Amino acid sequence: MLLENRVAIVTGSGNGIGRAIAERFAGEGAAVTIAELEEGPGKEVAESINAAGGRAMFHMTDTSDSASVKGAVEATVAEFGTVNVLVNNAAAFVFGTVETITNEDWERVFGVNVIGYANTTRECLPEFRKNGGGVIVNLASVSSFIAQPEFVPYNASKGAVAQLTRCFAMDLAKDNIRVNAICPGSIRTRATDRHIASLGLDPEESYAEFGQDSLMKRMGRPDEIASGVTFLASDESSFMTGAHIVIDGGATID
Ligand SMILES: NC(=O)c1ccc[n+]([C@@H]2O[C@H](COP(=O)([O-])OP(=O)(O)OC[C@H]3O[C@@H](n4cnc5c(N)ncnc54)[C@H](O)[C@@H]3O)[C@@H](O)[C@H]2O)c1
Repeated sequence: MLLENRVAIVTGSGNGIGRAIAERFAGEGAAVTIAELEEGPGKEVAESINAAGGRAMFHMTDTSDSASVKGAVEATVAEFGTVNVLVNNAAAFVFGTVETITNEDWERVFGVNVIGYANTTRECLPEFRKNGGGVIVNLASVSSFIAQPEFVPYNASKGAVAQLTRCFAMDLAKDNIRVNAICPGSIRTRATDRHIASLGLDPEESYAEFGQDSLMKRMGRPDEIASGVTFLASDESSFMTGAHIVIDGGATID
């Protein structure tokens, strides 16, 4: 078990990739807080982990609100004793061009995807320092380093996650806190379903097309991202910090 006796907070773990991470962590022995904005899915994930013999709790959390994040960390410490691992996964999916995006859109996407990652990190640091160290895994994206049509706000925020990961790693290494990122390619989740629907495209045709971008000719699955996150959260990656692992079936190698 790679995460035995660890306590983890996984943001946005009521759905998609976050859910797969929370379930995998619980299977590897961690106690997990489902820090999620949506009550229904968040509770359901916690209940299903507990029913399977794991340890999980739901805490309704808006990562863009520092008071809400503080509450999630306090609830985790009250229930599980401490925090050892933070996974910054919750995201706002805001797409468009420089002309179609409003200032409110910019504030929302940076509020969740960038300031949200900073809020959670800051609130976990006292527990990490008490424990003599900790681990942070940030969900970045291939969108951190490639351009995509009409993806301006989302890609700008994911580019910021890449730099935030390097800068956090540099500042926090002295406290034995490792900070790394995973960059997924196209993964089928509610977010991708919603994006396709918002463009009025046919889901099956779109998924077949996205799959063609990868050398493996398919989209990735949330559990394939959870494997990378588990590696970075565990001692298996003990000499890694400030790094990015791309998990995209080779889609962005050329
Ligand atoms: N799906 C992909 O193809 C893909 C590709 C690259 C990167 N990613 C990244 O992976 C992560 C997860 O994406 P996903 O596809 O699983 O998305 P998803 O929409 O399926 O799940 C995201 C979850 O985050 C929650 N959430 C949103 N805002 C929140 C907030 N402010 N506070 C707390 N929870 C909040 C949502 O309620 C939802 O449960 C994101 O960081 C995303 O950018 C996804």
